[in-house]
Amino acid sequence: MVTDNVDLDIEAIATDGERAIASAASTDALGQVETELLGKRSTLTRAHRTLGSLGPEERKEAGRRINEVRERLVGQVAARRTELAEAERAQALQADRLDLTEVIPDTVLAPPSRGHLHLVTQARAELEDVFVGMGFTVAEGPEAESDWYNFEALNIPPSHPSRDMYDTMYLEVGEPETVLLRTHTSPVQIHLMVAAVRDGTLPIHAVMPGKCFRLDTPDATHLPVFNQIEGLVVDRDITFGDLAGTIQIFTEAYFGPGMQSRLRPAYFPFTEPSAEFEITCTICLGEGCRTCSHTGWIELGGCGMVDPAVFIAVGIDPSQWSGFAFGFGIDRLAQMRHEVPDMRSFVENDIRFLSQF
Ligand code: FA5
Repeated sequence: MVTDNVDLDIEAIATDGERAIASAASTDALGQVETELLGKRSTLTRAHRTLGSLGPEERKEAGRRINEVRERLVGQVAARRTELAEAERAQALQADRLDLTEVIPDTVLAPPSRGHLHLVTQARAELEDVFVGMGFTVAEGPEAESDWYNFEALNIPPSHPSRDMYDTMYLEVGEPETVLLRTHTSPVQIHLMVAAVRDGTLPIHAVMPGKCFRLDTPDATHLPVFNQIEGLVVDRDITFGDLAGTIQIFTEAYFGPGMQSRLRPAYFPFTEPSAEFEITCTICLGEGCRTCSHTGWIELGGCGMVDPAVFIAVGIDPSQWSGFAFGFGIDRLAQMRHEVPDMRSFVENDIRFLSQF
């Protein structure tokens, strides 16, 4: 009797199980069917537990049949799982397909906003255009310089007091040579003159924009990393009048007609005579404010006639050639032109500030 019952139960379990496996519609549903058919609490497992109550022969036969059904069901679950997983993967691929030709209307997706050049980069490009229009070429030099290019060839020997004007960032001090981050763009003058002497390509009419580095404390008109544009003319019979005329033409071309500028006597070791170039403070229009330290004027740069000592250092005969040089702060120019009260705004990366220009 018992054997018959087990027989009946096992047949019924096998038939119901096969039907359930075949009709499972997803891998998740199949997982549940698997637990119900083959898990610890399944009828098949329970039937296995009743084997103990049978005689040895019957037990052997019933056990064999239970294991046979279990193996069959396990195989069918595995086959159905592979089938369902393939179907689900194909369905997912179809759903995730990207239609690259699809046109999404602007009302659904705003067009991505485009970035633009930083204000200082724009100013540099505009300055280059102004000077190229005046017949200058544009040159660049290295940001890491030897002491000779940054100081000595510019008539600033090691113990010269004017070195105090430049709070220098040194990269290497001493042997084989001292290397520093250039404190101004004037060393590019030296590179150009050395190359022109070597290649026999004098005269020179060039501007040289680039980054400069000083251990200056940041404030409304100073940054430790800033930009200058250097100018150098070396030719026959160049006079201070040529320098003053060039600066005036540049001022009006960049700031607009009628813009006030002035040259004040100054000292630079590499020019003689030297001058400082100032324009009316565009923030307060000469009244005096924080930006111009209440003077009404903003210093934009220095200039002067190339000192004969510099010509001698690079191998140019000062009795045959003369020249002028100037160096302006590009950040300072952009600041004045766009009436930006504090230069630190240039490097704070506040998109609300930057997107105005
Ligand atoms: C010089 O650097 C000279 N090499 C300029 C020169 C060239 C004179 C050729 C004669 C012949 P000065 O240290 O004054 O000079 O700097 C020139 C300009 O660079 C300043 O007027 C200012 O506009 C800008 N500048 C200097 N230091 C800073 C700074 N920390 N942050 C922003 N701009 C600066």
